Parts: sequence; structure tokens; C-alpha cells
Amino acid sequence: MARAAALLVVAVAMVLPTGSAHERALRAAASLTAEDFVPANEAALELLRERGDLVGQRRHLWQVLANITEPSGRSGLARFMTWFGAAETFAERPAAPAALRTAAMPFAIDERSALRGSLSNQPPLIVLAHYNDAAYRHIRTNSLHRQSALAALQAPLTTPAGSGSANAIPAFPRAAIVLKSAWWPVPAEGAVAMPVWDALANPAHRSGNDYPTWKRVVAVCNRASGAVDVALLGRTMRLQQCIGIERFFNLVLDAEFAALLMQEPTARKLANMVIGRPLRAGDRLALVALHVTTREIADWVWGTLWWHDRADSGPHAAGRPVAQAAPWRSYVLDVAFDADRPREPDGSARIVFNPWLEARFADSGHGGGTVSNCVSCHTRAASPALDPFRVTRGAEPPTVGAGSGSSVSTSSLWSIPLQAR
Ligand code: HEC
Repeated sequence: MARAAALLVVAVAMVLPTGSAHERALRAAASLTAEDFVPANEAALELLRERGDLVGQRRHLWQVLANITEPSGRSGLARFMTWFGAAETFAERPAAPAALRTAAMPFAIDERSALRGSLSNQPPLIVLAHYNDAAYRHIRTNSLHRQSALAALQAPLTTPAGSGSANAIPAFPRAAIVLKSAWWPVPAEGAVAMPVWDALANPAHRSGNDYPTWKRVVAVCNRASGAVDVALLGRTMRLQQCIGIERFFNLVLDAEFAALLMQEPTARKLANMVIGRPLRAGDRLALVALHVTTREIADWVWGTLWWHDRADSGPHAAGRPVAQAAPWRSYVLDVAFDADRPREPDGSARIVFNPWLEARFADSGHGGGTVSNCVSCHTRAASPALDPFRVTRGAEPPTVGAGSGSSVSTSSLWSIPLQAR
């Protein structure tokens, strides 16, 4: 039933009167990506949340992963690699339609993030956001890529005080998905060191647990091999084996893609640090982390994956589909449907974080990134953005943060206030 309704909406959208050439191109793209994502039944998902049913929640996220990583279109790219990058989503001009897309496109950067990258003294990592067609269109048709539109929504509401209503951007369609991915360079020849997160070996630091603090590293090569010497951040190590790139979801760079990446200060810093030179044709990018959020429920469904050399055991491997495709068997998964539930064994609010992306957050009074939760932080997303990296535990009181005072809630997406121009 839900499926039929979703397809109907797409069909109606496609018989709208023709507009500009670009709008026609967008509609052509829509026909290719209409089955991008068919949301699951909302009531069923709310029940999984209500009951704190982790088995069911994990099953759902493994299914979402299978959908978004399926080879798609003529290029055979994993579907999510055909989606729009942040620079495209928030650009003044519309992006190339889905039919014409290459894997390099989401890596395009704008000058402001390049500037941020050049000023940052954080350990470097190549991090991208990806917006599926439904998310991209919603942002652009509502002008949410413009600060002026967000400012207009910020005007104080005239509803009686205490009525509980708050300013918010228009609700996203349930088919919207947004991802955040993180990548590590691997040269065409030779070995690189890559940190691996072992929760028990890495107790929380007040200043955060970014990857330079992780106790263990593995070696990664284009082709698996025996013992190799690697170096990272001043440590040199002899490791007994080099793990082949095929154990990762990875992209091969051509000269153009490598040049595009090397325009970006963070990617340049990472390449120099890890392989000791700029990236060039034949090198690869290995996916180390992937965040997934879908608008299937009002507060969005949140999932996160990270690579591990022993990804077949432990709680984060639970529920892995038997027929899962090869590189994805090397990733573990965690899920958050709620800021609180199900509670941790000590009764505190649920913890869900990705070691590559959140462990680095410092403790600002409620614990650091290793006790964070996607929902707790993202429900605060608002324009203007207030403390976007502050770790909170559990649900925030409704009067604090998003949608209160003269701010406008941005539907759990922090990139809207941070990237709109
Ligand atoms: C303490 C705050 C915080 C926590 C916890 C957090 N995030 Fe984020 N997230 C952000 C901020 C800020 C951004 C935007 C800036 C950036 O990407 O660095 C973001 C960006 C994202 C994006 C890109 C889209 C967008 O507009 O927000 C996704 C997807 C995402 N996060 C998913 C997750 C998932 C999944 C988790 C939990 C495993 C999580 N986040 C935990 C703060 C947080």
C-alpha cells in the first residue's frame, strides 16, 4: 500500500507541464531514480522505535544498505555514488542530472569548505555528504540552499506562547536519504597504515578519541600480501599481512579525479600524511565510514557503518544478511531510532556513534563522542546553528535548541544551516 502510494506520487510529479530545459533534465533524471528508495511502513518503524527493538531496527538498516549500494544505471556505480554532493546541493546553479553522473562529482568542493579545510588543525580525513534525489529536490525547490530563505522562516511565529509550535522548514518527503562518507587513500603500489577502532582498547579521553589516538593499525595494499613495513604519524611498524583493497568499498582514481581531490587542502594533507605524496591516477580511496539517515520517520532513521578487519563477529555484526555482497561484509553497523531508547545497561540514554566521525568530539560536560547519539545531536539542528558539535545525552528539552526563540528547525539536518549560502 505504502509502496503503491509512493510510486503514484512520482508518476504525478512526472506529468507536470514542461518547464525550462533544466527542469526537463531533472525530470528525466527523476525517471531514472524514481525507485531510488521506497520508504518502509511508517507505523511499523515507529513501533520498532517505541519498543527499542534493536533486532528489527538493525534488520531495517541492513536492508537500506542493500538498497543504496545496489549497482545502478548504465555506469553500474553503487546507487549512492550517483547522488548529489553537498557542493552541488547548496550551489547557486543546479547540478548535472543523474544520468550523467560520475563517482568524482560528489567530491567537488566549494571555496568555503576548502578554506575551512586549510585552516583546520584537526587530523585530516576526506568526508563527504550525499543527497538522494528526493532530498536534493526538497532542499532546492524550497530554496533551503539559500540563507535568505532560512532567515525568512526565522521570523517569530504569532502563535500563543507555550503552544509548543516552532518554526521549521517544510517537511522532507519520506523517500529522502542523506549520507556522510569518510575515505582513506591507498596507493596503486605499496602499503599504507590505517587505524582500526577497538572499543575496549580505547577508553574515552576528555579531548576526544580521534583516529591518531587509536591503539591498533592495519596495513592496506592494492593487492593482499604478506609482511610489510608501514608508518603513520611518526610510528613505524612491521605488520604480518597487508589487507587487499577488495575488502573495502573503494574507488579507483583517474587523473582528473585525483586532480580534483588535490585541490582540497584536507585531502592533500591526508594524502601527504598517509602515502607521502599527492594522489594520482591508479590510487584508490577506501571507504572507512558511512552514515545513513532516511526521513522514513519524523525524527529520521539513523544508521552508521565502519570498516573492521574482524567484522564478522560482535554486536555490531548482528543481523548481517546471509547473502550480503562482498565488501559490505567487512563493515559493522549501529543504529539509532531514538535519543534515549533502548537504554544502555546502566540505565543511561542510548549511545550510537561512528569511531571515524564522532569519537573525536571532546567532552563538554555530558561525555565526549564515544557516548554520543545521532538523534540527540541532530534534533538540535537549526538555523542559526548553535553548538553543532556539542555532545548531549538523551532527548533535549523541547525549549532548548531547535525551533525555539527566533531559530528555525532544519529537520535534523545540520548541513542546511552550515552549508546554505
Ligand atoms: C554532537 C553532534 C553530532 C552527532 C552526535 C552526530 N552528528 Fe551527524 N552531523 C553533525 C554536524 C554538525 C553535521 C554537519 C557538519 C559536518 O558534516 O561535519 C553532521 C552531518 C551529518 C550528516 C550529513 C547531513 C546533515 O545535514 O546533517 C549525516 C547523514 C549525519 N551527520 C549522520 C549522523 C549519524 C548517523 C550519527 C550517529 C551515528 C551522527 N550524525 C552523529 C553533528 C552530529
